Amino acid sequence: MTDTDVVDAAPSPLLWGAAAREAAGVRLKGLAADLPDDLTARVLTPDDADRLHAFRLSVVAALTDPDHYRMAGEVGNFVADHLGDKGLTAGIFRDDRLIAYGAIGLPGPGDANRGRDLGLPEDQWPLVAHMSSAMVEAPDRGRGLHHRLIAWRLEVARTLGRPHLLTTVSPRNHVSWGHLAQHGLHARRWLRVGQGLVRFLVHRDVRVEPVLDTSTARLVPLDRLSDHPDLFAHGGRVWARLSGDDAADPTRGTAQRWFALCGRERSGPDR
Ligand SMILES: CC(C)(COP(=O)(O)OP(=O)(O)OC[C@H]1O[C@@H](n2cnc3c(N)ncnc32)[C@H](O)[C@@H]1OP(=O)(O)O)[C@@H](O)C(=O)NCCC(=O)NCCS
Repeated sequence: MTDTDVVDAAPSPLLWGAAAREAAGVRLKGLAADLPDDLTARVLTPDDADRLHAFRLSVVAALTDPDHYRMAGEVGNFVADHLGDKGLTAGIFRDDRLIAYGAIGLPGPGDANRGRDLGLPEDQWPLVAHMSSAMVEAPDRGRGLHHRLIAWRLEVARTLGRPHLLTTVSPRNHVSWGHLAQHGLHARRWLRVGQGLVRFLVHRDVRVEPVLDTSTARLVPLDRLSDHPDLFAHGGRVWARLSGDDAADPTRGTAQRWFALCGRERSGPDR
């Protein structure tokens, strides 16, 4: 699975409503064709609202760490906003049962826009899509569904002419932000959202490919991230989640350790 073809995205006229849903459905064909045999996928409609609402509640209720996803951090009415003109959702099903979804937000004029939080110039705000949220039911995790749903949303954003992908994610949810980073969405700053929650603001502009200045690279243990208030200064990013597998010793009960690869973006003509 790759999303490298997204890099050359050319701006296209913004699509809305039924046209956007149709375009998203076309992009879903690749994801649907690549799914395990027991699963199917389709773009959800307003008729799926109750089902999506119940699914989200059940996944959130079963989180091992409640900080991994807090609905208090959401803006607006999540379900309604992602089944209509303001956003689109892909659902993955086993028979008639929803087992995963990935939602992309398409903010319009006057809507909350994470481009503003990042400090993008106002003329770029219409080119923003939100990688709003994705959830996979526990028994189906580890089958590549999240990676597929991220790739689908990148394709949809490209098709709809929105090269800026943004979202917020808990720094403790390293599976989630690690996957986003694998698709080029890097943490760019700390952001305080609803009820004082502290989140990473992650971003990718599919038109550019930032390069890590390796002279500034450092591995920060995940539980020490908040000790580094300068993490995002001078073009600093979190580029990847790395495993400290070598340090783990199952015979001594040593837990696997995870690190954030941090460092500045290389700049200048010699990058
Ligand atoms: C976070 C979450 C969405 C991940 O979903 P998932 O479907 O298990 O993720 P994936 O299966 O795509 O990836 C898990 C691993 O399986 C691997 N994998 C297995 N089969 C794969 C395949 N066919 N293709 C790609 N990756 C595959 C991936 O490489 C990945 O390893 P990595 O973490 O080292 O990258 C899921 O744990 C979840 O719903 N959590 C609760 C809600 C939440 O936190 N949502 C995110 C915030 S919005």
